[in-house]
Amino acid sequence: MYAIEVERLTKIYGKGETAVTAIADATFQVTPGELVAILGPSGSGKTTLLTAIGLINEPTRGKLVIDGTAVADGGWLPGLDLKRLRREKLGFIFQAHNLIPFLSARENVMIALEINHLTRTEARNRADELLSALNLGHRLDNYPSALSGGEAQRVAIARALANKPSVILADEPTAALDTENGKNVMALLKELAVENNSAILVVTHDHRMVEGFDRIFHVSDGRIAGEETNGVQHAGTAPALQG
Ligand SMILES: Nc1ncnc2c1ncn2[C@@H]1O[C@H](COP(=O)(O)OP(=O)(O)OP(=O)(O)O)[C@@H](O)[C@H]1O
Ligand SMILES: [Mg+2]
Repeated sequence: MYAIEVERLTKIYGKGETAVTAIADATFQVTPGELVAILGPSGSGKTTLLTAIGLINEPTRGKLVIDGTAVADGGWLPGLDLKRLRREKLGFIFQAHNLIPFLSARENVMIALEINHLTRTEARNRADELLSALNLGHRLDNYPSALSGGEAQRVAIARALANKPSVILADEPTAALDTENGKNVMALLKELAVENNSAILVVTHDHRMVEGFDRIFHVSDGRIAGEETNGVQHAGTAPALQG
């Protein structure tokens, strides 16, 4: 089974003469454990693609299946609880870490777990375990303002991973970091993709950041104009790309 299946996915903003086709007929599949970069210039449609897959931006046309659940076929399918799907299947990491400023590192991760009905003690244990695994065991009680950019981004990663989502979506997660911290965050994402068997989609416009990714999609004017595969072959994936 695929973690993400996208078939002729299209997003058009607006109508008539001012309509903008932000994504046109994107077709691809991503397997669990695969780390995929979406590379392209500003305005090429990267965020639109990510937010459509993230169930926060309704596609205009095309099909979308997340972790075996059909979610869109010419717009959202009726009868879906999108919020719940988002909570249970997806993890988001943004350019700015989006941590809650008045909660500690630990509490920022706990909140994601408590939303999914873990008890406070369970949430606390899992938050501490995750943060320690990301080398933040000594920063549990720090507020975001007392964390470095790289540390804050790792807390955001811990939060995105908290519920073991099958799909992790990251939009320019290293944009606010220096090269070294950026590379560390990318290496970490790669490790986690394999370890948790999560599909990870990372948007970036910095090609230096995507070393070691399994695949790279090049987006141009809303189309997936090309694809590179970096070594690792995944059984049963012959990605059908149209663009
Ligand atoms: N809410 C919106 N309403 C109308 N047009 C939009 C909207 N969001 C994005 N667009 C347009 O869709 C196109 C793709 O935008 P998108 O934000 O997906 O690009 P991007 O590749 O993420 O760019 P960047 O690298 O600058 O973040 C652009 O032409 C943009 O102006
Ligand atoms: Mg963007």
